[in-house]
Amino acid sequence: MSTDRSAVIWTRLHNIPRKMGQLYVTDKECRFTYDADYLNLDQPGLGLVYDPAYFGLNTISRKRSEKFNLLPPVQSLIPPLQEDNFQRNLALKYLNSIGKTGLSGFDADWEILKVSGRGGIGHLDLFEDDEKAEHWYNNPPVHQLHEVTDEFGFSLKEFMAWFEDDIEVLIQTVGPTPSVGGAIPKLLVSIPETGWDGRIGAPTRQSTVGVTDVILKFEQTNRYPGITELESMALDMYRNAGFDVPRHWICHFKGMPALAIERFDRDASRAPVFTETLYSIFASGLPNMVSHYDYTYDNIAKAINVSPVRIVNDATEGKEHLFRCVIMSLITGNGDLHLENLSILIDSDNVRRFTPIYDPTPMRAYSQHDMISVMPFGDYGDIVDGYDKPIGLTEAVHRFSAHCGIRKKQFNAIVSELLDKTADYESMINQLQTVPDANKERLIKRIADARKHLGVMLDGEKPQR
Ligand SMILES: Nc1ncnc2c1ncn2[C@@H]1O[C@H](COP(=O)(O)OP(=O)(O)OP(=O)(O)O)[C@@H](O)[C@H]1O
Ligand SMILES: [Mg+2]
Repeated sequence: MSTDRSAVIWTRLHNIPRKMGQLYVTDKECRFTYDADYLNLDQPGLGLVYDPAYFGLNTISRKRSEKFNLLPPVQSLIPPLQEDNFQRNLALKYLNSIGKTGLSGFDADWEILKVSGRGGIGHLDLFEDDEKAEHWYNNPPVHQLHEVTDEFGFSLKEFMAWFEDDIEVLIQTVGPTPSVGGAIPKLLVSIPETGWDGRIGAPTRQSTVGVTDVILKFEQTNRYPGITELESMALDMYRNAGFDVPRHWICHFKGMPALAIERFDRDASRAPVFTETLYSIFASGLPNMVSHYDYTYDNIAKAINVSPVRIVNDATEGKEHLFRCVIMSLITGNGDLHLENLSILIDSDNVRRFTPIYDPTPMRAYSQHDMISVMPFGDYGDIVDGYDKPIGLTEAVHRFSAHCGIRKKQFNAIVSELLDKTADYESMINQLQTVPDANKERLIKRIADARKHLGVMLDGEKPQR
C-alpha cells in the first residue's frame, strides 16, 4: 500500500487566490515544489527559509521527524498535539461524523489539515486538490454579523467557517453548548470595524467593508483564573510602553470571559499578510530543533545579524525590539516568551519586521508557569569559563544586551524608559477583579524582584554575579 500523500498549497495574498505549489509526503520525506506561475509573481512563499527566489523550481525536501512530519510552515497549520486541545478535538469530532474514525498520529493530522488547513492564521491555505481550492475561494459565504445570544450553539454555528458545508453535522456532533475545556480555546471571528459591540460573524474570506478580523481567546477559569483580564492589562501596558499592540476588547459569552484581539495577519482589505513564527523560521533552518523553546534569545539576535536568510530588513531595529521584548517580559512577569510568541511579517512595502505584540500574558501569576524565562539568555544560571558561580540575572541581562548590540547609554535609556512606563504595574494588578489574591501576590513579588535587579544595573553598579 502506498503511503504517499499529496495536497496543494494556495494563498490569498493581495486578495487574489493563487496556487503556490504542490506538497508531497512520503513515508520518509515531505516535499514541496513551487509552481512556475507562482514564481513569476515574485511574492513571498511558504516561509522565510523556503524562499521562492532561492529555491525556484527545485523541490524542497525534508526528512520527516518525530516533531515535524511536514515543513514547519505547513506543520504550523495543524492544531497543537495536546489531547485536550479544543480545535483538534472539534476537527476530530467532525471527521468522526463523516465516517473517518479511529484516526491517530500523522493520519489524524493529515485529515485535520485537509478539513481545516485554510482560512486560519497567516497566509497559507492547504487543500486536497486544486478543485477544492477553487471551490472554496469562489464561494465565500455572504458576510453577516449576528448578535451574540445566550445560545452559544447558535453563535458557534456562525463561528465555524471551516466547516460551512457540513455545519449542521458539526453542531449535532459537538452539541449546542460545547464545554470549552482543554488548552486555551481560540476561535477566529469577525466583528464591526469600529470595535466589539456584541455582534460577530464568520472570519472574512474576501474584501469586506466595515468589519475586522479578531482572535477570540476564551478564559479557562479553572486552570487560569482571571487570565483574560491579565492579558488585556498586559497588552495595555505594552502599548503604554511604546510597543505596537493590536486593538483588543474583553467580552463575555454566557458569562464566560473572552478576549477579542484584532488580527495583524489581515490587512485593511481583509487580505492575508505573510506572517511566520520564529519557531517555524528556525525549525525550517535547523532540522534538529525539537521544541518552541529549544533556542536562546542571544542566538535569535545573532541570527538577525548573520543568518543567510534575512529575518528582518533592519537588523539594528530588530535586535532592539527583541531586547525590549525580553526586558518587558522580565518586568511584567511573563516568562513565556517562546519562539511561537514572536513572529515576523512582510508588509506591503515588502519589508520584513517583527509583528505587533501578542500573547504577553504575565504567566508567572500561575504556579505552573512561574519561571523567569522559558528560554535561556546571557548564560543565566550557567557556570561559564572563568566563573565559579552561576551567572546571575543582571550579568545575564548585560551579556544578552551585548548580543543585541545595545551600548551602555542606550541600555540605560531603554531600561529606564520601560521601568518608568510600567511604574504603576503593581497597582494595576491590585485593581484586577477576577485574578485571585494568591496569584496577584505571586506576580507582584516576581515583578518587584525583576525591577530591583534592573534598577541596580541602571545605577551603574557592576553586575552582580
Ligand atoms: N493578533 C494576532 N494577529 C495574528 N496572529 C496572531 C495574533 N495573536 C496571535 N496570533 C497567532 O496565533 C497564535 C496563538 O495565539 P496566542 O499565542 O495568543 O495564543 P496561545 O494561548 O499561545 O495559543 P496556543 O496555546 O495555541 O499556543 C500565535 O502563535 C500567533 O501565531
Ligand atoms: Mg502563544
